[in-house]
Amino acid sequence: MAKLPDPVKQSFFLCYREGCLKLLDQDSLKKGGLMVEIEPRPGEQHSYPAPKKDLLAVAVGKKSKTIVDATTGWAQDSLALFRMGYNLTCMERSPVMSALINDGFQRLAQKDWVVNRELQVPTLLSGNAIQLLTHLSFSPDCIYLDPMFPPKRKKSALAKKAMLVLRDILGDDEDREALFAAAWQATGRRVVVKSPDYAEPLGGKPQESYQGKLLRYDVYIK
Ligand SMILES: C[S@@+](CC[C@H](N)C(=O)[O-])C[C@H]1O[C@@H](n2cnc3c(N)ncnc32)[C@H](O)[C@@H]1O
Repeated sequence: MAKLPDPVKQSFFLCYREGCLKLLDQDSLKKGGLMVEIEPRPGEQHSYPAPKKDLLAVAVGKKSKTIVDATTGWAQDSLALFRMGYNLTCMERSPVMSALINDGFQRLAQKDWVVNRELQVPTLLSGNAIQLLTHLSFSPDCIYLDPMFPPKRKKSALAKKAMLVLRDILGDDEDREALFAAAWQATGRRVVVKSPDYAEPLGGKPQESYQGKLLRYDVYIK
């Protein structure tokens, strides 16, 4: 179980605004709140399938077909993988985040580029991936993990508001080693762990490692 920060200083609530489900706190009441953003991130291609050229694609493997994102969160990595044409299954244990993701995927299913190509939006399995992975009916080519690690500094000016909120409501994922073990058992080929650059590799020495700006993708291949 994720350890909740103690004491929880802020209260958050979910609310429908402008056709989508949003997470709000006192700070974001007037600014509009946070939702799963389904549009490409700045710098990402709008074409489908988007080119598999960034570090994320290299780490999950350009030839991989089926991917499980076991830590979906705000679904930004999931959506980037979906736009690159991977066949994606998502997992998320927070009921609040699951509700936000489901809302995002429903909006995605209505996008012209998704409808016109008759694309299936990713399936979301709500629950603890440590259990869900043991009951998977298939062996994915890649299982992708991006759990929350303890921050190096008390507050990082670089951390995005959405990630700060996630940490506020969920805390760090202290069972991430058990999650790695479950992913290693369940994968057909590889496990990819996204971690902050200062963190020790989650599964011991990886076969491949790709260094990004302040983060790293560690790749474990069976
Ligand atoms: C750092 S966020 C992931 C951010 C995500 N990659 C993105 O692009 O928005 C970590 C998320 O993984 C979820 N998570 C962590 N451990 C999990 C587990 N064992 N099962 C399911 N979800 C988990 C947390 O609830 C949290 O929402």
